[in-house]
Amino acid sequence: MILNTPIDMHLHLREGKILKDVIPYTTNQFAAAVIMPNLIPPVDNREKLESYKAEILENSENFTPLMNLFMREYTEEELLDLSEDIFAIKLYPAGITTNSENGVKSIEAIYPVLEIMQELDIPLSVHGETNGFVLDREREFGAVYKKLAIDFPKLKVIMEHVGTADLLSLLDEYENLYATVTLHHLLLTLDDVAGGMLNPHYFCKPIIKTPKDKMEIQKFVKSGHKKIMFGSDSAPHPIKNKLKGAAGVFSAPVILPALAEFFEGDNETFQKFISDNARENFNLNLPERQVELIEEEWIAPYIVGDIKPMWAGKKFRYKVKNAV
Ligand code: DOR
Ligand code: ZN
Repeated sequence: MILNTPIDMHLHLREGKILKDVIPYTTNQFAAAVIMPNLIPPVDNREKLESYKAEILENSENFTPLMNLFMREYTEEELLDLSEDIFAIKLYPAGITTNSENGVKSIEAIYPVLEIMQELDIPLSVHGETNGFVLDREREFGAVYKKLAIDFPKLKVIMEHVGTADLLSLLDEYENLYATVTLHHLLLTLDDVAGGMLNPHYFCKPIIKTPKDKMEIQKFVKSGHKKIMFGSDSAPHPIKNKLKGAAGVFSAPVILPALAEFFEGDNETFQKFISDNARENFNLNLPERQVELIEEEWIAPYIVGDIKPMWAGKKFRYKVKNAV
């Protein structure tokens, strides 16, 4: 099976040694990825944007990093300067997840920035969670998504890593809302995290939810809905940090083999989810690259550097032809 120009619409690569360890697992499967900016300090100025992009390019080949900025109160002048070099700006509510302490404390405070983004056609990427009860946080954030969609009708808003079925109906209600879905929210439930022995490697934000949520998300993805795109949210943390409670699933190594089994036989929908929807929704003009999957047993790596991947050691029926 050949996939044309697969894109991961939500990826954490980190910097330094971790980046070097994890990046080959993305670049062998994806032609491009949207790179998240929650570093310490965050990617929120031209200097950091350029040095981070250069680090990614030095460690990859035939791969396009689509860079995101971390939301703050940017001026019009700054955004005019940056707009050609970024894909989107990522909004993290303050303190809601990894390295988001400097996130947004009040959505109203960034309304002037959103006005400028709308004018310059810069998409808004959102980590949509309130600080309510952990299982309700995404559903509660639905009100914010609706308000953003109404107040900025020309601003493209991406609901990232949707794990709550309730948010999906917003896609058809508001023309300017889009969604990414991760591998882990598509294929796991809270039982995989805490139903038996605690599995800290599947602990992430937003937390993986109920079988009903999973089924609904699967239904939407299988339907080939145009506004749903794959975004892994692959988020590597060294094992010692995971054992201290860091949130994030390192799914990068297993993505295409796992999705090939999920879509089994429906290559057309697979192609849309992994690339075409994103390219059409955001007019992405990327160098094309084919990625081949072959039907051959493949075992997911047990460890990558100091990081434990999702489904470490699991057997898959498909293998990426140039597997790492
Ligand atoms: O689980 C998560 N990990 N969710 C996020 O939003 C951030 C990510 C990370 O950077 O580790
Ligand atoms: Zn993320």
